[in-house]
Amino acid sequence: MSISKVYRSVANAEQAEQSTPLLPAREIPGSYGIPFISPIKDRLDYFYFKGQDEFFRSKIKLYSSTVFRTNMPPGPFMARDPRVIAVLDAKSFPILFDTSKVEKKNVFTGTYMPTTRLTGGYRVCSYLDPSEPTHTKVKQFLFNLLASRKDVFLPAFHTTYAATLFSSLESQIASNGHADFNSLNNEISFDFLGEAYFGARPSKVGSSGLPTKAAIWLVLQLAPIAGNVLTKYLPWFLEDLLLHTFALPSIIAKPGYRKIYDYFKSAGAPALDMAEKLGLSREEACHNLLFATCFNTYGGLRVLFPGLVKRLAQAEGDLHARLAAEVREAVAQLGENGRLTLAALEKMELTNSVVYEVLRIDPPVQFQYAHAKKDFVLESHDAAFQVHKGEMLFGYQPFATRDPRIFGATAEKFVPDRFVGSEGAKLLKYVWWSNGPETESPTVNDKQCAGKNFVILVARLFIAELFLSYDSFTVDVSQSLIGSQITFTSLTKARA
Ligand code: HEM
Repeated sequence: MSISKVYRSVANAEQAEQSTPLLPAREIPGSYGIPFISPIKDRLDYFYFKGQDEFFRSKIKLYSSTVFRTNMPPGPFMARDPRVIAVLDAKSFPILFDTSKVEKKNVFTGTYMPTTRLTGGYRVCSYLDPSEPTHTKVKQFLFNLLASRKDVFLPAFHTTYAATLFSSLESQIASNGHADFNSLNNEISFDFLGEAYFGARPSKVGSSGLPTKAAIWLVLQLAPIAGNVLTKYLPWFLEDLLLHTFALPSIIAKPGYRKIYDYFKSAGAPALDMAEKLGLSREEACHNLLFATCFNTYGGLRVLFPGLVKRLAQAEGDLHARLAAEVREAVAQLGENGRLTLAALEKMELTNSVVYEVLRIDPPVQFQYAHAKKDFVLESHDAAFQVHKGEMLFGYQPFATRDPRIFGATAEKFVPDRFVGSEGAKLLKYVWWSNGPETESPTVNDKQCAGKNFVILVARLFIAELFLSYDSFTVDVSQSLIGSQITFTSLTKARA
């Protein structure tokens, strides 16, 4: 390791301010090993022999560095080039947001890209770099759609999501002693999105079965980076062969995709009118609308809501009672007829802190990728590394947002009050679930999540509706393909 001090030219004043006094220059440690063999070994370590956290942890230890070279799954034969530079601390990770230094073209799912046959032949927004003109048009279209529907979100969440979910949970618990939250959430959240975005619940307009069709379509895109999905039924090496070696045939999803597309074409007609005004073809806009709803939003909510329930259920102390008191007091002061309003939600400091803390500790999308647009120097807390144009950067977000040098001794712990008050607010710039700091808003010039505000809103609504109706609850938690599997075992109704 070179320990010579280097002079680093800094591009702007902000970066200069953040730079610690000259860090030692260091070669990026790690190697990609023997082509073909080592990427497969890394893949097997990652999925089966070590597991993802230990895979990264062991390399951090081996190289004494949070920045190192490694291969990332899926590797052969699915990905042309599995080589990445991993950035696993809160200092180096934000390089992935800096569109002046990195390009994010075709990297949404990482080192491989699913066939565009799954998206009507189009590269949809998530795969476009902000430098591509279509990116601006599609992202603006989504901003406009969300803005045009904003007044509908609260009532739609209450009626279509919360009321339906709670009555189903209660009746399942009454008859079976338990209720499968994930299956209910998967069905009901899809209907809620139809109501929220288009005013047309799929189950009410003759388009039932869409959540399952969307799930199959999602699996085809995510299988290459999912592990231990089939190992209950198959030996690991067969799963590896089936999921990680060759792409599953897109034809499997085709009939279902057509049905989902038809729903969007008809229910989303007014939205598609808006897209045409921005210069998009109706067809390209419709495939994008489908992707933003079924992959970005629906895929996200399938992970986020079970994650929220898990953390609420496992929290120590009297968190349920504190949340119930806060939510009910805010509604009494600022609600309308006992119902939630935006003003009431804003007042719920603890509720809002819990949402940020869940998104910090369990970011629903764990991986971010980008290619270096030019040569630059990348800094971790401890060293400065030379990155070359064309190299691929990869961030494993749970490590970056649990960095003890930012979040202290409790970085690995769920702390519900972490973001309460002015001191708590200072930490929000280190919450990155949306592919950008929580203190910033997405624009057409960056790759931050277009639905950032919507996500924060529905997560707040989820907690607030839950504690308006119930004093407490208990659940069993296990691991699912993506995120947590939740079984409700009891719900204690709110005392009058
Ligand atoms: C829990 C829900 C959600 C999560 C966890 C989530 C997370 C993310 C993340 C991490 C990215 C960046 C991916 C990358 O480029 O590396 C992203 C991008 C994106 N998200 Fe979300 N998202 C959610 C909901 C939504 C919603 C409600 C929309 C609605 C429009 C949306 C639309 C998008 C779009 C269009 C992009 C690409 C942005 C661009 O290309 O500039 N997402 N999201």
